Amino acid sequence: MAGRIPQSFINDLLERVDIVDLIDSRVKLTKAGKSYKACCPFHQEKTPSFNVSPERGGYKCFGCGAGGTAITFLMEHDRMEFVEAVEALAAIAHVEVPREGGARIEKVDSGLYPLLEEAAKLYRQALREHPEAIDYLRQRGLDGRIAARFGIGYAPPGWDYLKTRLDADPDKMVAAGLVARSDSGRIYDRFRARIMFPIRDSRGRVVAFGGRLMPDAEEGPKYLNSPETPVFHKARELYGLYEARRTTSRDHGRALERLIVVEGYMDVVALAQNEIPNAVATLGTAVGTEHFEKLYRNTSEVVCCFDGDRAGRQAAWRALEASLPSLRAGRQCKFVLLPDGEDPDSLVRSEGRASLEERIEDSTAAGDYLVEELSKGIDLGSMDARARLWELAKPHVYRIPKGVLRDLLVERLADIAGVNPDTLDPPSTETGQPWMEEPPPPDPGPPPVARTSGLDQRLLRCLLQEPSLFAKLDKSLVDDLFDGTDDDSLFLDVARWAAQDGDADASVLLARFVHEPVYDELRDLADSEQMLDAKALEAEFVGGVKHYVEERARRRLRALVDSIRNAPTKENIARYLSAARAARGQVDDADVETSSETEGAPAK
Ligand code: UTP
Ligand code: MN
Repeated sequence: MAGRIPQSFINDLLERVDIVDLIDSRVKLTKAGKSYKACCPFHQEKTPSFNVSPERGGYKCFGCGAGGTAITFLMEHDRMEFVEAVEALAAIAHVEVPREGGARIEKVDSGLYPLLEEAAKLYRQALREHPEAIDYLRQRGLDGRIAARFGIGYAPPGWDYLKTRLDADPDKMVAAGLVARSDSGRIYDRFRARIMFPIRDSRGRVVAFGGRLMPDAEEGPKYLNSPETPVFHKARELYGLYEARRTTSRDHGRALERLIVVEGYMDVVALAQNEIPNAVATLGTAVGTEHFEKLYRNTSEVVCCFDGDRAGRQAAWRALEASLPSLRAGRQCKFVLLPDGEDPDSLVRSEGRASLEERIEDSTAAGDYLVEELSKGIDLGSMDARARLWELAKPHVYRIPKGVLRDLLVERLADIAGVNPDTLDPPSTETGQPWMEEPPPPDPGPPPVARTSGLDQRLLRCLLQEPSLFAKLDKSLVDDLFDGTDDDSLFLDVARWAAQDGDADASVLLARFVHEPVYDELRDLADSEQMLDAKALEAEFVGGVKHYVEERARRRLRALVDSIRNAPTKENIARYLSAARAARGQVDDADVETSSETEGAPAK
């Protein structure tokens, strides 16, 4: 059974591998002093701001913020999964990857892949043998070339087409999601009388199926998907991504110019049929944060294209929310809503490729879309209403990582509200390094200001050793934690990456900071001994985050009370009131003055 890869092995591996060689074989590097430079492979640029440091074993782009170690480079540039990247480096270094006994990396029964491949073959064979299925595809405008590109097949009606032809252990067929077991223990085909769309992972392996019911069949939902299995996690896969990459980027390793996210399998296939080969779809789920990270590993521009009906609008809004943590300089996310009653499949067939592409070109950038949607029903003529717009937007805006994009949006909203952007936020207390910094001067300069308190250090240590702890926080606690107030805490920076990278390995999380001045401090925390078992660790972390949020709210209120004492201006009072309102949810019984006294205080 494959266990977790020991952290010590990963550290050694990163020391052994020459990151300059590795990157230079993909992106031509030129020497510049102690480090190497190139135009960044992760965003478009004319002057090189991509920097590789052999000393630190890391890379960093000072333009778009991309950065990390050899492992993250392979993940982001070659689009490997974490374990794949470690294995690739181990192969370069001629060492074996050891595994610990633990079972954090799930055991993937590789026997399922050949079984799923065999099933796909049987479905394709059935399609050839059933003219009514071919007719249906034709009638929907698809030709044999596209059906072959996507490996489309057919599951005939009846309970045992697949089951009797697959030469495999019944338990394994159930595990692969191909057959189901009845209460009486008998197994039967899950997919019947359906057009079958194989879902492939980023390496092209069939991991699941989506099936569309034939129009004259009576039974079941219109679309049926494989259940979650050891090799298939809905929230991670995107239908059509493998095909899009294969068709559009023959030049291996180069990102696609753009990916279009649509709602259905048929939309993806119909667009491909009409020479728009770069569409992908989720698998009957909403577009989530994990999807966006995967999308941005493959492209810098994502266009979400949804139906114009109520459901489509809702889907678009949820997609917008999910996209925010992935937005960084060099990444674009846009939205387009189609006319009511149409989907990409119907539109491309009725109005043709060119007009659909025009709509996609005209799509609305995420920031604009956010402002547009939130402004609906708000009378921007009224000052109160404009201020409310900021209140509505704030929690969303601050889910965008710190950086240019977020600053622009804050400015934009301040402009609409007719106020100075600085008055929108509590005063910034920034002392440390912003995420996007200019290349550091050759002279090391004064040591960075310490950004960590004792509590921060404890939380950081938990997270750096076990990033999956982040997922243990309640949603409301996460919202409070990232409540938009931009205090400069290293813990918040690390937490944002943990939130974004999902179940990333500890070394990936650490790699995000390889070029930051705090890297050594973080590595020490990651390496320090942890005496707690898993349960105690979780309790320490969750309890610690609650404490962190409460302390911060108290600190802010105190500072604002002081500011009113010094200068009881209308602005200071308003700031205090809004912070007090926000804090009510975060601090159980506030140990600061209650707002009622201050509320009546006259402004001078
Ligand atoms: P739609 O109902 O919009 O289907 O579902 P469509 O793509 O337009 O399909 P056609 O044109 O009628 O064939 C969009 C997506 O929602 C999921 C599927 O992933 C589908 O592709 N879905 C839909 C389901 O999972 N189950 C359903 O019963 C319906
Ligand atoms: Mn449709």
